Amino acid sequence: MNTSIGISETNKLAVTKSLSKLLADEFVLYTKTRNAHWNIEGPDFHSMHLFFEAQYEALDDIMDGVAERIRMLGHYSPATLQAFLQLTHLSEKTGGDNTSAGFIKELVGDHESIIIFIRENINPFASEYGDAGTSDYITGLMEQHEKMAWMLRAHL
Ligand SMILES: [Fe+2]
Repeated sequence: MNTSIGISETNKLAVTKSLSKLLADEFVLYTKTRNAHWNIEGPDFHSMHLFFEAQYEALDDIMDGVAERIRMLGHYSPATLQAFLQLTHLSEKTGGDNTSAGFIKELVGDHESIIIFIRENINPFASEYGDAGTSDYITGLMEQHEKMAWMLRAHL
């Protein structure tokens, strides 16, 4: 059924394309955070194992929200690993060691990259595409990533 919410098809499609890239980034970051949870080694194993678990759970909720936002705009969400790898800005490379510092540096960089991407889209979503709802939604997401990035950074 057609989605008539006062935003043109062209504009809904433009917003959806950016949200699809964001979803792919969230999925890759979710997987990288799972990697940290599973493969972390060192004297701080237990606390960091639990910390990374809390972070991937938060990312799981974020992914769900982004995908459902795409559906609210009348489009289908990308939902295959292949699509996510084609759409993402992030690299799967985790590099070097399995210490908390190694994982944290990688994850902070990814959160910051997502924060920058979201920030660049907040104004265009509202002013160019007339989608105040999604603009507001991603503003909240950006704040969540800023908090998660701070929590990661504070361990270093
Ligand atoms: Fe686990």
